[in-house]
Amino acid sequence: MNIQEIFEKIYHAAEKCGYEIYVVGGYVRDQLLDKTGKDIDFVVVGDAMKFADQLKKDLHLRNLVRYPRFGTFMTKYYDYELEFVNARSESYSKNSRKPVTKQADLHSDLSRRDFTINTLAMEIKPGSKETIIDIFNGQQDLKKGIIRTPLDPEQTFMDDPLRMMRAIRFATRFNFTIEDHTYQAISKNKDRLNVVSQERITDEFNKIMLAKRPSVGLELLDETGLLEIFLPEFVETKGVEQKEKYHHKDVFNHTLEVLDNIAKKSDSINLRLAALFHDIGKPKTKRFDEKNGWTFYGHEIVGKRMIGKIMKRMRYSADSIGYVQKLTALHLRPMALVDSEVTDSAVRRLIFLAGNEIDDLMTLCRADITSKNPKRVKKYKNNYDHVLQKIEEVEERDRIRNFQPPVDGLEIMKLFNLEPGPKVGQIKKFVEEAILNGDVPNEHEACLELIKKNRTILLKP
Ligand code: CTP
Repeated sequence: MNIQEIFEKIYHAAEKCGYEIYVVGGYVRDQLLDKTGKDIDFVVVGDAMKFADQLKKDLHLRNLVRYPRFGTFMTKYYDYELEFVNARSESYSKNSRKPVTKQADLHSDLSRRDFTINTLAMEIKPGSKETIIDIFNGQQDLKKGIIRTPLDPEQTFMDDPLRMMRAIRFATRFNFTIEDHTYQAISKNKDRLNVVSQERITDEFNKIMLAKRPSVGLELLDETGLLEIFLPEFVETKGVEQKEKYHHKDVFNHTLEVLDNIAKKSDSINLRLAALFHDIGKPKTKRFDEKNGWTFYGHEIVGKRMIGKIMKRMRYSADSIGYVQKLTALHLRPMALVDSEVTDSAVRRLIFLAGNEIDDLMTLCRADITSKNPKRVKKYKNNYDHVLQKIEEVEERDRIRNFQPPVDGLEIMKLFNLEPGPKVGQIKKFVEEAILNGDVPNEHEACLELIKKNRTILLKP
């Protein structure tokens, strides 16, 4: 079923109730930008709950979810996520996020929305050409690429302070400019972000991180002062200079470049977060060394610890946190490998430590090359390719990525007549080390032989 047919059915259901119905918000905006979406928001000028009954009957809907308190309901129909809401005007009390909603006409509903580009409404009367209702010159702003609030921005941001982050998200995603008054109001009201729940902030932040060039959003977040409120640790990286002679960028700008490099390669939010946080430990570990200039010894470990705290506070999942910590802790290893001869055993150890994350780790390390000296870039990239090639060779031969010890604890206990205990663990570790060192192949028989041969040393109390 195409979207016109769906609109037609919805229109007729509304007509039966004597209600007007319009498509609003992102769907209309995106259509004018030649993008098609599957999420469609409707405004019902009438009683949305009564309309839900009618629509359910006419479209034979089984999965309709109602939120009577908010005058809204949603349903999935074919491929589309449809959301319906009463036309309403909302007012918020100063210190609470709980709106007091009143039924309203289309005009006041649109005027309480966040940005002019999101105040566009579309009629869906069958037969008539799609008419756009544009009270706040949203189409013009869309053409010019401007983010502007329909009302006084102070009012719009007072109604929902998360909109300050939404302004930055849309500016980043569409490469638009935030109009001056709107921008000033964000800077002025930044502290109001404190009344917004961390979950909503993080959700919005992720959307900024998932843009084509996340650096644009992070710079805006920083300039407006919003970043300081929910991620002060990243603001700390500003002005922390790097030690390299040709590395003019501070840690903040270097990180933004790494982030944009990663964004060209991957849409994974976790990998992008790893790019954002991989040098977060630098400000805390910065020391001046007569010989080497600025150094950041141990920043990957300090960073790992900080990430645990920051990401937990930001309500990221334990899986995301573990992943970002792992990549951060290991991000210096691949390049460190090439300083000396790339030995098989060093490569094997890296694959063992990184496990399934080895490919992402290598992507991060490549993105981390932001030097402006072409000679250095060439050298680093060659080194990187060399390590990558080695990884492939070792992987193919040694199957080390999802390392499972070829001799398990049970077998060791049987062989030496041992009770479960630390001794078994020590023997397993001995085998593991031997494999990683390349003293023995990653195979059952060979490892068993090795244990038997070393029986006396291994069983020594
Ligand atoms: N809206 C708003 N203030 C908010 C959130 C949403 O005014 N804090 C309005 C906007 O008119 C927006 C519509 O509700 O267009 C739907 O919101 P949402 O689905 O979050 O955003 P979209 O604009 O649809 O954008 P996208 O789906 O791309 O996130």
